[in-house]
Amino acid sequence: MFTMPTEVYYGPGIIGSSEGILKKNGLLEKRFLLVRGNKSFEALKDNGLLERAPWLSNSAGEYIVNGEPTLDHLSQALKLARELEVEMVVSVGGGSPLDLGKAVAGLYFADPNDSVEDFFYKKKRLPNKKLPFIAIPTTSGTGSEVTTVSVLIDPGRYKGSIGYRLWFPDIAFTDPQLTHTLNERYTLSSGLDALTHALEAVASTGSDPLTMRLAWGAAETIFEILPELMRDLKNPTYRERMSWASLTAGLSFATSGLGLCHAIGHAIGLLYGVPHGLSVSAMLPAVWNFNAQYIDEKLRRYLDITAYDVLKRLEKFYQALGYDPKTYNLTGSGPVKVKSSDLQEIVRITFQGKSYKTNPRPSNEEDIIKLVEETFQIV
Ligand SMILES: [Fe+2]
Repeated sequence: MFTMPTEVYYGPGIIGSSEGILKKNGLLEKRFLLVRGNKSFEALKDNGLLERAPWLSNSAGEYIVNGEPTLDHLSQALKLARELEVEMVVSVGGGSPLDLGKAVAGLYFADPNDSVEDFFYKKKRLPNKKLPFIAIPTTSGTGSEVTTVSVLIDPGRYKGSIGYRLWFPDIAFTDPQLTHTLNERYTLSSGLDALTHALEAVASTGSDPLTMRLAWGAAETIFEILPELMRDLKNPTYRERMSWASLTAGLSFATSGLGLCHAIGHAIGLLYGVPHGLSVSAMLPAVWNFNAQYIDEKLRRYLDITAYDVLKRLEKFYQALGYDPKTYNLTGSGPVKVKSSDLQEIVRITFQGKSYKTNPRPSNEEDIIKLVEETFQIV
């Protein structure tokens, strides 16, 4: 079943219409907390964001998140939202501000005596009411503007997601023009995240013909456009197509769920400090190959391709990008070198989340270790 309660406004320049859209929805006068990135937001301000959406200057307060959001960030932002008695949360940025803002809106009405850990580790049920949440993505990758998911880190212990049906953003403004200032590394990382969403949504046990076609359309666009965009970062047509692909991949996996790339990728990201998009996409070739015989029939039936065709395309695509997960500078200071003493921890984190459950091929500890060994250098 495909449902999407978020009002999605997509298009180059659509942020210029946001004030009128908020007014129409009775949200323009609400006191809001702005959750945003740091440098990326400043770059957008220099590019005229506040002239196009003046209402963004009227926040009751701001929470700036650097890096991927942790439970501490969530506690602090939630505390600030409550102190300011806000009536709405607005996030502007990549996956980090979007996921954090979504969780603040979702937990606002929780008992303040309950800790965010209680919700993250599912010891307490998420509240059945939330604040309105407006998502304004400035990268093309996360899809967070159309999903219920908030990915958070408990440093040294676990990286995973919380959220449920109620956590769909109320309004999303997906404006490709807001991605024009993204640098090379963010463009690659977010683009590869979008591809991983698309391919995991195609393969997932939660897919249906509708989500498969939507997700495959996104994957084909990314195969074609991302290498071109990496050579021409300012090209507005490529930016627009990547923005569309990211949005449609998000719409797909919001329904279908993901798979082992995200489950294992979260563990690698947590243990070795690899950005989300790079850690999950690194797993794609090995995981796709692992799943191939389990998804080949449905790919032939609904998409008129074989799982092995997709694998070949993926390999060609990674070659065109010069992206070899074994040797690529995934950590920012070199390739990932997985310690063999960490393998059990990677297995534990992989099976703690929910993404592995929708992977088309069931997996055990041995499978996970093999997939990690195929993908990274082991030391
Ligand atoms: Fe992702």
